[in-house]
Amino acid sequence: MPQAAPRFPVCQSAALTDGRHIKVSMTFEGRPEECLIVRFEGRPYAYINRCVHMPRALDCEQDSVFDETGRFLRCSMHGIVYTPQSGTSVSAMCEGQQLRPVEIYEEDGEIGLADYRISAVLR
Ligand code: FES
Repeated sequence: MPQAAPRFPVCQSAALTDGRHIKVSMTFEGRPEECLIVRFEGRPYAYINRCVHMPRALDCEQDSVFDETGRFLRCSMHGIVYTPQSGTSVSAMCEGQQLRPVEIYEEDGEIGLADYRISAVLR
């Protein structure tokens, strides 16, 4: 039977409400990376916080990562818009390219990361 990925608890479920995000620092594939965790329509999603256009964090120019409709994630640098569910660009720029997903879980009122590529998570 395959071994489960190590779990890194991040926060209580109640701490991440719909349309909000939190960020954590982590060691991912042996390198420091920032993970963006969002909740959309009740479900949490996690991505490496790096735009597909240029190596910039989605919130590099402003604090929010959801656009004004609350339906999409938006990079504040040049405005690429992504679906929260898959991290896919739906903008003409970089259309179809995807943010890098990170495995996330929500269980017993806790959200965390559970991904074989992670060796440490810092809040
Ligand atoms: S760096 Fe994100 S849209 Fe250009």
